[in-house]
Amino acid sequence: MERILFIFTVFIALTEGHQKPEVTMWPGPKEIYSGDTLVLSCNGSGQVTWFFNDKANDKSNETWTITAVSTNNSGLYSCQRGTTKSDPKKITVLEYIPPATLSLISGLPVITLGDSVVLELQDDEGLEGWFCRVYKSGRARRIKIRPALMSSSETTVQIHPNILLKNESPALYWCEHKKTMKRSNVITVTTTDKMVMLETLPEPATLGKELVLQCLVWGQPIISEAAFYKDDKQLESSSSTYKIALVTKHDEGKYRCQATYKFKDNKSNIPHTVTSDTQVLRTKVAPPQPVLTIKGKDMSCTCEKCTGSHTYRYYYKRMDGKLMQVTDGKVLTDGEYMCRAVWDQGVSMLSQPIYTRAPQGSPWIIIIIVILGILLFVALIIYIWIKRKHANDAAKAQEAAYEELPQTKDAIEMQKTKAGEQGGEGGYEALKRSKTDEKEGEYQTLGAGEGKGGE
Ligand SMILES: *[C@@H]1O[C@H](CO)[C@@H](O)[C@H](O)[C@H]1NC(C)=O
Ligand SMILES: *[C@@H]1O[C@H](CO)[C@@H](O)[C@H](O)[C@H]1NC(C)=O
Ligand SMILES: *[C@@H]1O[C@H](CO)[C@@H](O)[C@H](O)[C@H]1NC(C)=O
Ligand SMILES: *[C@@H]1O[C@H](CO)[C@@H](O)[C@H](O)[C@H]1NC(C)=O
Repeated sequence: MERILFIFTVFIALTEGHQKPEVTMWPGPKEIYSGDTLVLSCNGSGQVTWFFNDKANDKSNETWTITAVSTNNSGLYSCQRGTTKSDPKKITVLEYIPPATLSLISGLPVITLGDSVVLELQDDEGLEGWFCRVYKSGRARRIKIRPALMSSSETTVQIHPNILLKNESPALYWCEHKKTMKRSNVITVTTTDKMVMLETLPEPATLGKELVLQCLVWGQPIISEAAFYKDDKQLESSSSTYKIALVTKHDEGKYRCQATYKFKDNKSNIPHTVTSDTQVLRTKVAPPQPVLTIKGKDMSCTCEKCTGSHTYRYYYKRMDGKLMQVTDGKVLTDGEYMCRAVWDQGVSMLSQPIYTRAPQGSPWIIIIIVILGILLFVALIIYIWIKRKHANDAAKAQEAAYEELPQTKDAIEMQKTKAGEQGGEGGYEALKRSKTDEKEGEYQTLGAGEGKGGE
């Protein structure tokens, strides 16, 4: 009996030793970015205590959700169940934006129970190796996507997750790369059973940017009145939207809205007044934002706050709002252009867009044309000058010729007159002779020379 008890104690000691709790993190196990919502989970059984940098806090649930993490949340996380403590998990929050973008293209961050959303994943370097997940009601599941759509030649894909049921709110969506540390941002979707919904962003609002809150009613009836509340205090608004021009830390809080509405086709309709669920607004520090400049066809991107080695990417915004990467950094057509800095683990914010018209020719061609024009002009001047000089020389030469010609003319005249004295035919003969004389003369001189040489 004692022996059995001993074995039993040993067994308990062994299993206790093995059953060390572990901190699991969603979305994980990749990099964590500023603004992410983190879900930490501690397995095992018994009372839970959470530690951040070895300091216990008041969180005592199996899962600890941290919304909108910032660099302040970098550190060591551990949990204890009963008397056993987990190994610490190190989390480093990066200030960039994840390299791939996940966005809501249909549906809103707050949907009615039983509804769904459509997401879009974009990665400039192709979609091969990517898969997407949803974390809801304590479990992370993979979302089915046709493998054919995830090829290296595609940069965007639409994702159709399942509808959200009861107890599946909030649902966190993100995508991961199988081989690399790359990940997308996290989209948070919550459900409500109310007819009225306060719509914010599916991610924390960026400090220093504009934010629009919307009060929507399911089925789009006529809204006659809408009111917004922040931490139970009514905000001033005149329509069913509330705009914050520049988001600050003070805008964080619990928001809700109240709408009075009436459906068009219901004649015996008394207006309803319904208050939405509360939405917690969180903020995040704006990631570095570069500045785009365009000179002629050439784009350049500069970013003062971007530290570490990075490169730049250029984008063209298509008519449908899609961003197309411009790999050579040259303006192709009229339109909106943007740029961003790119690191190994993330990207910067997009620059402010610049609208530009594609120039007809590059500045180099214009410079070459101008230089050619100048050269042509100089050549023309030189040509004219040379021509003039030639004309002058020719005129001078002609003058000289005229001086000589009269002599010859005179000589001919004289010869003619002489010949005339001798007779018509004689004139011809004289002329002929004078030519032969010349020839003979030449000959003679030549002969004389020869004769001289011969001597
Ligand atoms: C927690 O999960 C890890 C990994 O799945 C496992 O090794 C460990 O034994 C679990 N701990 C408990 C207390 O269940
Ligand atoms: C912790 O769990 C309790 C009961 O399950 C729940 O009511 C409460 O909202 C949870 N707290 C947090 C912060 O999730
Ligand atoms: C980070 O912590 C510092 C001091 O603890 C605080 O002033 C700052 O506002 C925090 N930043 C964020 C983004 O929470
Ligand atoms: C019209 O309004 C009444 C009262 O609000 C409601 O009971 C009824 O269901 C509505 N009918 C339709 C078709 O929406």
